[in-house]
Amino acid sequence: PDNAFFSKPLPMPPVKQPRFTFTSPQTGQPIDYFEVEMKPLTRQQYPPGVVTQPARMLGYDGLMPGPTFHMTQGREAVVRFINHADRATSVHLHGSFSRSPFDGYADDITEVGQYKDYYYPNRQNARTLWYHDHAVDHTAENVFFGLAGFYVLHDSDELASGLPQGNYDVPLGIMARRYNKNGTLWDPEANNELTSVFGDVVEVNGIPWPFFTVEPRKYRFRFLDMGISRTYKLFLQADQQKNKGVNFTVVGADTGLLAKPISTDVLTISIAERWEAVIDFAPFAGQNITMHNQKGVGADSDFDGTDRVLRFVVGTTVTDPSNNGPIPNPLRNVPFPPQTEVADRTFKFTHDGEWLINGIGWNDGLAARLLARPQRGSIEIWELQNGGGGWSHPIHIHLIDFQVISRVNSNRGVLPYEAAAMQDVVWLGPGETVRVIARYSPWPGRYMFHCHNLIHEDHEMLAEFNVTQVEG
Ligand code: C2O
Ligand code: CU
Repeated sequence: PDNAFFSKPLPMPPVKQPRFTFTSPQTGQPIDYFEVEMKPLTRQQYPPGVVTQPARMLGYDGLMPGPTFHMTQGREAVVRFINHADRATSVHLHGSFSRSPFDGYADDITEVGQYKDYYYPNRQNARTLWYHDHAVDHTAENVFFGLAGFYVLHDSDELASGLPQGNYDVPLGIMARRYNKNGTLWDPEANNELTSVFGDVVEVNGIPWPFFTVEPRKYRFRFLDMGISRTYKLFLQADQQKNKGVNFTVVGADTGLLAKPISTDVLTISIAERWEAVIDFAPFAGQNITMHNQKGVGADSDFDGTDRVLRFVVGTTVTDPSNNGPIPNPLRNVPFPPQTEVADRTFKFTHDGEWLINGIGWNDGLAARLLARPQRGSIEIWELQNGGGGWSHPIHIHLIDFQVISRVNSNRGVLPYEAAAMQDVVWLGPGETVRVIARYSPWPGRYMFHCHNLIHEDHEMLAEFNVTQVEG
């Protein structure tokens, strides 16, 4: 129905506050302590205006998406995640170099009624992280039902950069969902979905196709694809001047600010990627700008409505003119690893009944799925090969920040904003081979890497590497 589109305001997840602060007995430094309760929620979500059954979902603090953490570099945190959901959970802070026991390992399950305290170092540069479920075999279901939220790390350089802040710095978590006709959420596990759930209802911050009222000035948006299988190519269109181009100025990626701003008319975002972009609404006072999606779902038939995402309703008054100046250039001295050309390891992502990495799946066991042992502190190039079948695999490597240095067998190469970025997820498109370079640090230990199409991940496309301590 038409009233599905742009009829509800974009919700803003509340900011999470610490319960108290204590002093670290080791360092004497303050540590903020938080508690998050995972629990079910119900919501009359879709279709709109029709009295049907509410959808049963899951949320951190009963919210979907969960509350947003705003953290400051150098200030550590402990977050107690209490499981009052109806299923086992594991929490991963995606983008953090957490120590291995606090990284949301798939088999590190917290049963219903239990809790786990996660220690987060918050020592990295400013970046957009997110926390989401990572429970073995059930990550797709748990995230699809709502276990995902933003975690924003700030640092002094970023806060002094002149980029829009406060109310003008806005997280946009996009998730495509699928509903049953009676309004309940379509259940990927009950339906034994083994390939992908693209979803035909495009939600932003938990609401289908919302609108967002903005002032005619610059905003910084933190885009995150928190869905389980759908990838987007976003573009902006001014409703009353269809031919007037509206650009994104990309300023940030998974691991913080880019080296320099990159202007683009189409912003590609794959599952779990974060892209930060400034949009300047100043020339569009009193108009609507609609954010569209031009990416279909390959061989599968697409659905009505997946070509639209969000509408910006631009007002006529600016209430706060601060941080509305030119975007700084350069933005950051990004610590790109020194370039070499030789691939140290090769991983092939294939579909052969199951989704596998070099022929191995998670359930092959601890020894088999340990696919790499990089030395702590060493720089390695990993070549990621798409084994075919027309599938996309957004590949995520835990612990480290990488640079995408090549993309071949592809008509797109390394995208301009990828070239200026460090990332922790790269979209490995159909048939493509991508090389990523990273320093395997700071910690030793076992970490996961996997496809972030969560259906693929749950059906075995999940493996491990072990950062080994140098002897001596
Ligand atoms: Cu966003 Cu291994 O996860
Ligand atoms: Cu995949």
